[in-house]
Amino acid sequence: MTKRELINKAKEAKEFAYVPYSGFQVGAALKAKSGKVYTGCNIENSSYGATNCAERTAIFKAISEGETEFESIAVVSSANDITYPCGICRQVMAEHMKDAAIYFEDKDGNIIDSSVKEMLPFMFDNKIPNKK
Ligand code: THU
Repeated sequence: MTKRELINKAKEAKEFAYVPYSGFQVGAALKAKSGKVYTGCNIENSSYGATNCAERTAIFKAISEGETEFESIAVVSSANDITYPCGICRQVMAEHMKDAAIYFEDKDGNIIDSSVKEMLPFMFDNKIPNKK
């Protein structure tokens, strides 16, 4: 699965977005180290805070199916330009895939390479060894 193929999977998932409130579709495609790809879209709610972003949909799908290690995630949106993950999604990525790559596509169709560490430097991590 190339970066371009992962971006294309994210684009397919974007079409399933449930966005009656914002009209803003987001799609994500997450590649686990197992080789399997998990897709996600944003799913909104009339109680706006109950909305789930595309990235977290993909990550939670994968984890709930037993995946624990991830290589990369592609994120696209109906803006057809780079759409950076929100803060909550960055924190969820920090928890489950801090060494993963992130791919975006700019308005000219170029793939932009980033990473969870670049998106969330100095990330919070309370996995301290002597935790009670
Ligand atoms: N959204 C995502 O799906 N991912 C992000 O990282 C940013 C925001 C969604 C949430 C909401 O459905 C819409 O975009 C507008 O905020």
